[in-house]
Amino acid sequence: MSKPKVVLGVSGGIAAYKACELLRRLTESGHDVRVVPTASALHFVGAATWSALSGNPVATEVWDDVHEVPHVRIGQHADLVVVAPATADMLAKAAHGLADDLLTNTLLTARCPVVFAPAMHTEMWEHPATQENVATLRRRGAVVIEPAVGRLTGVDTGKGRLPDPVEIFEICRRVLARGVTEPDLAGRHVVISAGGTREPLDPVRFLGNRSSGKQGYALARTAAARGARVTLIAANTTGLPDPAGVDVVPVGTAVELREAVLKATRDADAVVMAAAVADFRPATYATGKIKKKDDQEPEPVALVRNPDVLAEISADRARPGQVIVGFAAETDDVLANGRKKLARKGCDLLVVNEVGERKTFGAEENEAVVLAADGGETPVPHGPKEALADTVWDLVAARLR
Ligand SMILES: Cc1cc2nc3c(=O)[nH]c(=O)nc-3n(C[C@H](O)[C@H](O)[C@H](O)COP(=O)(O)O)c2cc1C
Repeated sequence: MSKPKVVLGVSGGIAAYKACELLRRLTESGHDVRVVPTASALHFVGAATWSALSGNPVATEVWDDVHEVPHVRIGQHADLVVVAPATADMLAKAAHGLADDLLTNTLLTARCPVVFAPAMHTEMWEHPATQENVATLRRRGAVVIEPAVGRLTGVDTGKGRLPDPVEIFEICRRVLARGVTEPDLAGRHVVISAGGTREPLDPVRFLGNRSSGKQGYALARTAAARGARVTLIAANTTGLPDPAGVDVVPVGTAVELREAVLKATRDADAVVMAAAVADFRPATYATGKIKKKDDQEPEPVALVRNPDVLAEISADRARPGQVIVGFAAETDDVLANGRKKLARKGCDLLVVNEVGERKTFGAEENEAVVLAADGGETPVPHGPKEALADTVWDLVAARLR
């Protein structure tokens, strides 16, 4: 089998050096990468670096090797074009169909999926001209990853930073795996909860659960690759890197999670509650560490109910047509309990999986059945958590249509 052909477009931003890491990941994972830098990009990283790392010739203008008609061929033969970093200038040119160098010609001739990873100062990103160009590109089917928030060139901090190259690579991998398909969540806002809540007993102890957050993160990554604007409400997911282009809201307890979910879902098209939210919390919180007393048995811990966030947002939808998905982790009688839970919660879809100490929690793979309120049942065989995530988005996208 021939290697998938990827065009890595690099435009003239300070983050051009980070594209070397993306290039390495793409080549090491078996892609044939042709780097097409702009003339400005070559001020930051030279052609020799791109050529040596990709093992392919590097050109910027349409006038090299004219007999091979590169301004047409490179785009026509690509399975994926990813532009990282994408400057404000490049987004504007792409949105308006300009073709004054090899990369812009390639963008016009490509019929494969196109991913842009913008990077620029916050003012440039927020400017209405850039925002309109981004909206145009998304409307036409390109995946434009939201920039990250953090340190920019110089001393500035804000939104506009290039997302981590590892995460851009993950998006490219997902987009390539799905082939030329419509980014069917483009223009949609989706909210995902991930991880497990922790209910404090005292300053050092909590009641928690084994959820790692990996399924929720897979949902966030795949939704971003399908073009959605993603808010990820992350409960105690330390150690998992923020997925590229995803707005991450960290929370600790079920009450905090509820507040974040209610706020984010106001304008959401779909909500997927993958987090394991504690049903109960300690009735009282000891402000000092609870001490062991040699001559006394420990006090029992009284519990009170936590709010049922899934039932609440399902009963009182923030928007008409909002699609709500729940997760049910069951240990026995999995499907029967799942059906009962779906009816009780009032959501549209319920992903039911069997859990145990060594099953599902923290694993890279999952296996589930997605139950629908209309009676549908979609089994998802054992496989990567991203495959289950894509099935969930297929079902959500069908309902949003
Ligand atoms: C030091 C320096 C850093 C720059 N960083 C960025 C950047 O991060 N994002 C951006 O949109 N433009 C940035 N620019 C401006 C672009 O290089 C400029 O708009 C250029 O025309 C882009 O050309 P291109 O889109 O063909 O690569 C930077 C310019 C300089 C001199």
